[in-house]
Amino acid sequence: MRMILFLVSFVSFVTRICNASVNDVPGIYGPLPMVAVSNINNINPYLKRSPGDFTHPGLWHSHDDLERIRTNVLSNKDPWASTFANFSTDTFSLSNYTMQGPHGIISRGKISNYTAFAHDARAAWQNALMWYITKDQAHWDRSTTIIDAWGSNLTDIIGIDRSLLIGLDGDLFVNAAEIMRWEGNWTEAGASWRGGSGFSNQLYWLFSRQAAVIGQANYGMVSIKSLLSFAVYLEDVTMYNYAMNSFINDPCASLFAMYNSKTGQSVESGRDQSHTMSGIAWTAYAARVGQTQGVDLYKLGDDLLLKASEYTAAYNLNETVSYDPDWHRCEAVLVGAPWPTISEYNRGISNTQPVWDIMYYQYVVKRKLKAPWTTQAQREEGQEGAVSTNDHPSWGGLIWAY
Ligand SMILES: *[C@@H]1O[C@H](CO)[C@@H](O)[C@H](O)[C@H]1NC(C)=O
Ligand SMILES: *[C@@H]1O[C@H](CO)[C@@H](O)[C@H](O)[C@H]1NC(C)=O
Ligand SMILES: *[C@@H]1O[C@H](CO)[C@@H](O)[C@H](O)[C@H]1NC(C)=O
Ligand SMILES: *[C@@H]1O[C@H](CO)[C@@H](O)[C@H](O)[C@H]1NC(C)=O
Ligand SMILES: *[C@@H]1O[C@H](CO)[C@@H](O)[C@H](O)[C@H]1NC(C)=O
Ligand SMILES: *[C@@H]1O[C@H](CO)[C@@H](O)[C@H](O)[C@H]1NC(C)=O
Repeated sequence: MRMILFLVSFVSFVTRICNASVNDVPGIYGPLPMVAVSNINNINPYLKRSPGDFTHPGLWHSHDDLERIRTNVLSNKDPWASTFANFSTDTFSLSNYTMQGPHGIISRGKISNYTAFAHDARAAWQNALMWYITKDQAHWDRSTTIIDAWGSNLTDIIGIDRSLLIGLDGDLFVNAAEIMRWEGNWTEAGASWRGGSGFSNQLYWLFSRQAAVIGQANYGMVSIKSLLSFAVYLEDVTMYNYAMNSFINDPCASLFAMYNSKTGQSVESGRDQSHTMSGIAWTAYAARVGQTQGVDLYKLGDDLLLKASEYTAAYNLNETVSYDPDWHRCEAVLVGAPWPTISEYNRGISNTQPVWDIMYYQYVVKRKLKAPWTTQAQREEGQEGAVSTNDHPSWGGLIWAY
């Protein structure tokens, strides 16, 4: 109750002092449950204690990651150089990219009208990387003007799939902001000691609070992985620990809830292969935030995520795998269960679903683990290039390579 009163007074306070703020703070979403540092489920080592514990830039790209990308592109080393050749000519990487927004309200659900944001978010992120690699001021300008335009004009995100919009497109957007803030010295428009009216205000009220209700399986993991990103940007210890605990312990969306510890089967394997493959990559992006923050989520459960990758890579390379129909997701009835057999829907490997580079470079190249199916899937996939959605960042040969 105290929290609700606090929200009301804070909102009216913000409205009084600035031009843009968030109109629709969803009151049904209460405060995040606090995860106390304790010995429960042994998550202590994964939690933060104070804002000073965060490392920046974090999220997907640490300073060392960005340096590795830049150095290898400049010294013409593959896979960075050949991926960069395509990346740098992609429309979203150009400093003369024409911004499509901003808009006040966007929606993903029955009404879907968020493509302007999706495109601009991608352009902000690709221009941020372009700026880091080339140090061309025009890319700095393009990336930051996009973040500031949406940051000070978007006031609401609606629709039943808003958590996907926030967790996919919003995650690219915050990754752009993290690079520009910590490497580019960008200060957001509207920053004020009285409470700002720009990007971080929106990230807190619109993105984070609406992503806080974590759904099931791949859908839930989108919220978890994006909450981890938002929490690092905001240095929000409560939000970070909540998301981290969910990654490990959520009964419907955690790593352990999604992948069978014996076989690696996904709880979505009986549904279709595209959700199965995307879910694996979304888990990997969450683990990537853990990595920049100094904890190793990739190796949890004896490299359980790799086991998941191997199972799904093999099946999508046309191999036969064992299938347990009892290993299915929470609320599977919402998406056509029961599933007596593994699904052939969307079966196959293609760079239109660019999920294999992050698995391959992390486990096979960096950790030198044997993963024959993941390795073969990565070869079969070819270069991860331009994509038509923000389900995945793509360009793995540039951003995930070691
Ligand atoms: C944008 O930049 C690209 C690459 O430099 C160039 O080919 C293109 O003509 C430019 N487009 C506009 C509208 O200026
Ligand atoms: C998207 O749809 C919502 C609901 O109809 C509307 O309020 C909003 O203005 C629309 N936004 C855009 C960018 O068209
Ligand atoms: C966004 O909002 C700010 C403040 O209300 C306004 O000054 C600015 O022109 C808007 N930006 C765009 C691109 O519409
Ligand atoms: C950002 O600011 C720091 C500290 O003032 C400075 O050392 C650094 O060179 C600046 N970086 C850029 C890209 O301007
Ligand atoms: C798997 O089978 C499909 C359908 O026959 C075929 O198009 C595809 O090339 C096969 N994939 C591999 C990796 O052999
Ligand atoms: C990369 O660019 C080359 C040359 O334009 C093109 O042939 C190739 O299809 C591109 N690769 C991808 C993955 O888009």
